[in-house]
Amino acid sequence: MDYEAVKKYKEEMNKYQRKQEKKRRSRLMLGGGNCLNESVPETTRHLAVDTILGRSSSEKHVTRQYGRCKTRTKISRRRKMRIVAWRKHLSAVAVSGAGLFMLVHNHLSMATKKRVALVAGVTGLVGRELAKSLLSLKSQWGIIYGAARQWKTETLDHFSDPAYYFVDCDFLDEEYTLRKLSPLADQITHLFWVTWASQCTLETVDCCNLNRSMLSNVLDALLLSTNNSSLSHVSLQTGTAHYVSLQVPKFGSERDQYYDENSPRVVVDGGGEALNFYYTLEDLLRERLARRRIGWSVHRPGLLLGVSTRSHFNFIGTLCVYGSICRHLGLPFTFYGDRKCWEQPFMDVSDSRLVADQLIWWACLTHCGHSDNQGQAFNAVNGATYTWSQIWPALSYTFCGGDDGGFSEEKTYMELMGDKGDVWGEMVHKYQLCPTSMEEMANWMLLDSAFRFPVNLLVTREKAYSLGFTTVHDVDTAASILYWVDRMREERLIPYLD
Ligand SMILES: NC(=O)c1ccc[n+]([C@@H]2O[C@H](COP(=O)([O-])OP(=O)(O)OC[C@H]3O[C@@H](n4cnc5c(N)ncnc54)[C@H](OP(=O)(O)O)[C@@H]3O)[C@@H](O)[C@H]2O)c1
Repeated sequence: MDYEAVKKYKEEMNKYQRKQEKKRRSRLMLGGGNCLNESVPETTRHLAVDTILGRSSSEKHVTRQYGRCKTRTKISRRRKMRIVAWRKHLSAVAVSGAGLFMLVHNHLSMATKKRVALVAGVTGLVGRELAKSLLSLKSQWGIIYGAARQWKTETLDHFSDPAYYFVDCDFLDEEYTLRKLSPLADQITHLFWVTWASQCTLETVDCCNLNRSMLSNVLDALLLSTNNSSLSHVSLQTGTAHYVSLQVPKFGSERDQYYDENSPRVVVDGGGEALNFYYTLEDLLRERLARRRIGWSVHRPGLLLGVSTRSHFNFIGTLCVYGSICRHLGLPFTFYGDRKCWEQPFMDVSDSRLVADQLIWWACLTHCGHSDNQGQAFNAVNGATYTWSQIWPALSYTFCGGDDGGFSEEKTYMELMGDKGDVWGEMVHKYQLCPTSMEEMANWMLLDSAFRFPVNLLVTREKAYSLGFTTVHDVDTAASILYWVDRMREERLIPYLD
């Protein structure tokens, strides 16, 4: 046998067959271009039609030719009509099948896709705890973006986690915010708003406007910069000051009841709403998110207990600096305030761990766009009834080893501590603390107003618990405060007792 000749013959045959196959394919492709509905490949429809009609291969060839050039086709008009009808039917089936597939696919990927958080105000009292908790829930949260103006490295160990990214951003700068956040808009599923603009006096138009622009700039970056925004929930942290106003100092002072989430907004003498920026932020979210079916919730803590060097109203920081200076200078550790605030329960405190857990709990629980998820409000407080006269001895012991300076109405913290910046500087040096200025740690106005608060501000916390929230952190207020004093020491922000 002449193997060379056979080989050559086979090669020629293969070449010929390949050529024929190529021609056949290009005919099929051209036929596809003429079809009525292009959403399903023409080849698929031809084969399906052929199979269903049970035609021979020669007939199939004719059908395919029909797709390409109607004039050359020699098939009966009746058959043509049948083919067209079948094509339409199959196209419709294929299209609705694809729709169903996409629906199931989207649903499954939503269920399995990890959430992506933006913690706006990540170095603040709740922001730090929130980022830490989210990072511990790796099975549910893929990436955590934390934003603030300044990156404080000294105290944030867990932020070296590879799933965490810091975004330095001033939300008051519209252009900068857009530049920084718009590239993340198609990723971020949850926005946690645990920040605020503290530059202006509370309960003024300026304060409301500044806070409104801050949130508005971030919403613009996340919603308007892309057609593909992933945002599904916004958690807004405000506070129990929602229920009272210092413009109406009498309001609440005679009340012995607790405010719940349905308590009305405060109305001032002229009949309008008090100038509370919490109302402005809620209204902004309602206005911007309702028609987009994006869920949002509002969480209202009392006086926050936590650690931060970037917080304007930092109760633990202020108390710790006061206690440490008393110890350093040998001063008595005294409660300066009014008698009512010393002897009676008048204000809730909120452990930052509890607030962080509550923010995450509701953001994960709710269904996007569901009407129940539009603006649900929750108080977020430790819930224990306490008086400072009960707690003060334990604080005296932890700061000064037992010298209890008791109660006095005579001085304010501002008068007593306002000029002790240099003393704090010496202490930072002497005890080798993280470098901080007294202003970064303490706000004497806060202590003066908290211990002379003119109205009762106690709230219920049952709503969240009745819906399944279970976290309880040191319901004993003294234990909660002492936990945070220990954390301040561990982070070398205040000295240990020597
Ligand atoms: N503190 C309390 O005791 C307390 C009690 C009840 C309710 N609240 C309410 O809770 C909300 C949050 O307050 P908070 O005290 O938890 O926060 P915070 O501890 O004061 O922290 C504020 C955070 O926001 C960042 N920030 C401030 N201005 C910013 C800006 N322009 N752009 C970007 N980031 C900015 C800060 O870092 P940088 O400064 O580095 O940017 C910080 O990370 C407020 O509505 C407040 O009224 C607070």
